[in-house]
Amino acid sequence: MLLKLLFILCEGRLVEKMDFYEVVRTRRSIRSYKPDPIPDDVLNRVLDTARIAPSGSNRQPWRFIVVKDEGLKKRLVPACGNQGFIAEAPVVIVACGRDIGWNRGGYMGSMSMLVDVSIAFTHLILAARAEGLGTCWIGSFDNAKVKEVLGIPEEYNVVAITPLGYPASEEFREPGSRKPLSEIVSFNGFKQ
Ligand SMILES: Cc1cc2nc3c(=O)[nH]c(=O)nc-3n(C[C@H](O)[C@H](O)[C@H](O)COP(=O)(O)O)c2cc1C
Repeated sequence: MLLKLLFILCEGRLVEKMDFYEVVRTRRSIRSYKPDPIPDDVLNRVLDTARIAPSGSNRQPWRFIVVKDEGLKKRLVPACGNQGFIAEAPVVIVACGRDIGWNRGGYMGSMSMLVDVSIAFTHLILAARAEGLGTCWIGSFDNAKVKEVLGIPEEYNVVAITPLGYPASEEFREPGSRKPLSEIVSFNGFKQ
């Protein structure tokens, strides 16, 4: 019988490989974290999925800041609308992007890099789920304040932030309300 859970030996640790669709289906925003540290090999695997993400013309206009320092994590909270759970996690990841000087679609202008960074961040968030790590995409932040706390240079802007850690009180489960496919998909033209 084909085992549902496939185990591989990875860098001396037994790692559970999850089915891709199960990863996507059971990812959810986690807003409470255990303080348990994340092993370096696990963190590196998650970060590496952002590294290999696609980007327009392969320009890779991103930088990812891994924040472990307790003082810095605490300073990020007021810069993120006082969302205190961010500092509970052992790691906070801040994704930044710089203007690629490319006006995608003829209208995106300097915002074009948001597409690239968001793709990479989605890789990272799904990889985290596959590792049993919780995330919560944080879009409510003050760009200038986060840049000041982390010394991010002028030419980069913050695109997304997530706490990263093992969930405390919440379980991974299927998402709540979502629109049905019939409402969001149409074939051969836009359906009003
Ligand atoms: C671009 C973006 C910004 C978000 N910003 C926040 C945020 O600042 N704080 C928060 O708690 N959740 C934030 N979320 C999480 C959403 O509220 C959440 O993804 C949505 O309600 C669906 O729930 P789920 O992630 O559990 O499936 C954000 C999600 C996205 C994609």
